[in-house]
Amino acid sequence: MKTIGILTSGGDAPGMNSAIRAAVRTALNSGLRIKGIRNGYDGLMQGDIYEMNVSSVADIIHKGGTILGTARSLEFETPEGQKRGAQILNDYGIEGLIVIGGDGSFKGAKALSDLGINTIGIPGTIDNDMGYTDFTIGFFTAIETVTDAIGKLRDTSSSHGRAVVIEVMGRHCGDLALYSGLAGGAESIIVPEHNFSISEIIDKMEHGRKRGKLHHLITLAEGVGDPYSLAKELEEKTGIETKVTILGHVQRGGSPSAVDRLLGSSMGSRAVRLLEEGKTNLAIGYVDGSIIEVSIDEAVSKRSEFDEKLYELANSLSR
Ligand code: F6P
Repeated sequence: MKTIGILTSGGDAPGMNSAIRAAVRTALNSGLRIKGIRNGYDGLMQGDIYEMNVSSVADIIHKGGTILGTARSLEFETPEGQKRGAQILNDYGIEGLIVIGGDGSFKGAKALSDLGINTIGIPGTIDNDMGYTDFTIGFFTAIETVTDAIGKLRDTSSSHGRAVVIEVMGRHCGDLALYSGLAGGAESIIVPEHNFSISEIIDKMEHGRKRGKLHHLITLAEGVGDPYSLAKELEEKTGIETKVTILGHVQRGGSPSAVDRLLGSSMGSRAVRLLEEGKTNLAIGYVDGSIIEVSIDEAVSKRSEFDEKLYELANSLSR
């Protein structure tokens, strides 16, 4: 292995840059060449590829987003597109590829591995929806962002005596709503992994009001449904004014937390080591405090397990 390529794909996530930095510097320290592929698989299809050096990754560890850019590519989803992608990598002399992204990005990595390009996946998504790893890069920074927003919404909701439904990202995964809801002291947490009862939320709102609580904060995972109809129903049934805040893409930005930088650094470096050992079709994860790797097939097929204990704890503390 003489030359490695690296790309970021799917939604960006804070901490991706620390993984890029670690991969580039580990490769260079080992005497390998490393080429950056801009804008994910789309950039690969366009041959948007450049040689990286020590300075390419200087001053990026603290930056949100991804310096490589990211995009979705419909062409690369087809078998013909994947073959062309593998050919382009061959043309550029890239024998090993590091893909930082979520499960869609990993499926692309697997396809390239089947076509003879050694590939390693690094989990980068704020959703924390990959079952083979305890945490994905970007999740902890997103928790900080949402927790900060919950604190601000608490201030204004208390002043006005309002409830607020805070829509949180995560696709079909409730982790971001759960972790930030607990950290922010939300009164109600609604996630796709559990049925929720409107009457329980109403009881909580009325009970809270009786004991002098002025606000009622609800984190709603985006995978559950429409926040506006929920807010309308709650307001109609309780008489408590209920607002909606959709946090949106602000959750994807910002300087990565220390944990995300540590995860990115460890995983980026491990990815290069695995390629040096001639490994392919592996996804790096973090399980029980250690960096691990599993096959990409296992990584994309393992369903994310919802933390029932944390959910129960959050509920029991928010009464
Ligand atoms: O997967 C990350 C994520 O931010 C999800 O939480 C969200 O549903 C989605 O991406 C939004 O995608 P886009 O940036 O394409 O609108």
